[in-house]
Amino acid sequence: MKTLTDIRSTFLNYFARNGHQVVESSPLVPRNDPTLMFTNSGMVQFKNVFTGVEKRPYTRATTAQKSVRAGGKHNDLENVGYTARHHTFFEMLGNFSFGDYFKEQAIAYAWELVTKDFGLSPKNLLVTVYHEDDEAAGLWKKIAGFSDDKIIRIHTSANFWRMGDVGPCGPCTEIFIDQGPVLQGGPPGSPEEDGDRFLEFWNLVFMQFEEQEGGKRINLPKPSVDTGMGLERMAAILQGVHSNYDVDLFKHIIGTAADILKVDANGPQKASYRVMADHVRATSFLLADGVMPSNEGRGYVLRRIMRRAMRHANLLGAKEPVIYRLVPELVKHMGVAYPELVRAQSLITETLKLEETRFLQTLGRGLKLLEEETAKLPHGTKFSGDTAFKLYDTFGFPIDLTQDALRAKNIDVDMAAFDAALERQRADARKAWAGSGEVGDDKVWFDVQAQHQATEFLGYSTEDAEAVITTLVLSGQQVQNATGPSELDVLTNQTPFYAESGGQVGDEGWLQTEMGQTIFVKDTQKKTGQIFCTPGCS
Ligand code: ALA
Repeated sequence: MKTLTDIRSTFLNYFARNGHQVVESSPLVPRNDPTLMFTNSGMVQFKNVFTGVEKRPYTRATTAQKSVRAGGKHNDLENVGYTARHHTFFEMLGNFSFGDYFKEQAIAYAWELVTKDFGLSPKNLLVTVYHEDDEAAGLWKKIAGFSDDKIIRIHTSANFWRMGDVGPCGPCTEIFIDQGPVLQGGPPGSPEEDGDRFLEFWNLVFMQFEEQEGGKRINLPKPSVDTGMGLERMAAILQGVHSNYDVDLFKHIIGTAADILKVDANGPQKASYRVMADHVRATSFLLADGVMPSNEGRGYVLRRIMRRAMRHANLLGAKEPVIYRLVPELVKHMGVAYPELVRAQSLITETLKLEETRFLQTLGRGLKLLEEETAKLPHGTKFSGDTAFKLYDTFGFPIDLTQDALRAKNIDVDMAAFDAALERQRADARKAWAGSGEVGDDKVWFDVQAQHQATEFLGYSTEDAEAVITTLVLSGQQVQNATGPSELDVLTNQTPFYAESGGQVGDEGWLQTEMGQTIFVKDTQKKTGQIFCTPGCS
C-alpha cells in the first residue's frame, strides 16, 4: 500500500528528477502576505516570484505545502466531518514554473506522473478546461489521446483560479477520476457534480494575470504554472478507499481515539471521530507555526477548531480532556516530514490540554441550555440569536459551534439577532470606557479599536514579518500621512514586536515601508489591551 508518506515522496522525487528544486513548505502564517489569514495553497510562498517582484535561483520548484482552509476566502470548517473530502488542514503537492515551461509541459508532466508513477488507468481519467482555453483542450487530446467527451469545458470561476481578491491568477485545468457507479454523482459541470463518483484530485493553473485592487487585471511578466494536488485525495484513490478519512494516517488517529473512547468508529458517530482527527492535525500544525488560541483573528480560528473538536469528543462521551492524547500518534506519522511538530510537541500537548480543561468547565452547561432552548422551539422557527449570543459570551461557544450542534436537527440560528447582540455589547463597552486620563490619548485608540481588528502577534515564531499599516496617530489624532522627521504611533494588522506587559519592556526595531522609508521603532505598547502600536521616528 502506498502511504501518505510514500505518495509525498513519489511526487517530489518525480519533479526533482525533472529539474525542479524541492522547496520546503512555508509556514501556515504567510510571511509574505499580511492580508491572507492562512497559507491556503502551494503558490502562496511564490506569489511575489510570479509577479516578478522576487527573484529565486531556480525557475522550477516542487513542494508539499501545509495548507489551512478555515477562516478567510477559502473556508471549509463547517463541512469537515460530514463529507468524504473536506479538511481544515491538508497537504497540497505542487509543481511550479516561473516563466520556464507553460501549458504543454505542465500537462505532459502531470499525465506521466499520474499514469506511470502512480499507475492510474487512463480509461478512468477525464479533465475540465476553462471554456475559452482551446489550447489546453488541444493539448489534452495530443498528450493523453482524450476524445472530446473527456475534456469538459467549464464556464464558471471553478476553472479560473485566484488566491484571493488580488494576486496572480489564471485559467486552470482539473484532472478527475471516475470511481465508478458504486458512488453517486455525475461528471463535472453536470447537475450531479457534487456527488463523490467523479473526484477532482489535481488542479493545474496557468498563471497569466495579476489581479490588482479595484479589479484591474494585468499580464504577468512571464506565463507561469502553479499546480495543486490534494495529497489526502490521491492517497484515497491509491489506497482504494472512498473517503479521505479512511487513508492510513486518519485510520491511525481515529483508531487511537476509539481505543480511548470505546465507541464504534464506524458506527453512527463516525463524523465525530473524523472531526477530531482532522482538527487535532490542524490544531497541532497551527500551534507549531506560532498561532496561539485567542479571541481574535487567526488565534480565534484556532480556538474555534479546537472547541469544535472538543464538542465532538464530548458527543462521544468524553468527560476528560482527550484531544491532546491524539498528538503522539499524529507526530509519529508526520513528524519526520514536518520536524516542527516534534519540536513543538510539548507546547501542542500542554496548550490543548489546558484549553480542553477550561472549555469542559462550561461546555456541559452550555449544551444543556442549548438543548432546553431547542426543545421549546416551535417547529420551523429559528434558534434565538440572543441565546446564541449568551452561549458565545457566557459559555464560550463560537457561533459556528452552536450552528454545528443545531445542524443535525435542521435548525438555523437567527444570525441577524446574534449580530445585533454582538454589536450592542461592543457599543456598551465603548460607552463604559473610562480611559486612563492621559492627554487625549485613550480616546483616539478606542476609536481605532472600533475600526480595526486586534493586532495579531507573530513574535512567538518570527522576528520579522510583513504587515499592513492600518493607522498612523500623530499628537492624539489619526492621520493619513506624516511628513518630515516626526514621532508618531504606527498601528499594523500584525507584528512580531512584543508590546510592553508583565514587566517586560516593549520591543525596539525597524519598519521598512514599500516606498523605501525606514522607521525606527523605539517602543511597542498595547493600547486598549488589543492593538499594538509602535511609536517610531521617521
Ligand atoms: N493554486 C491552485 C489550487 O489551490 C493550484 O488549486
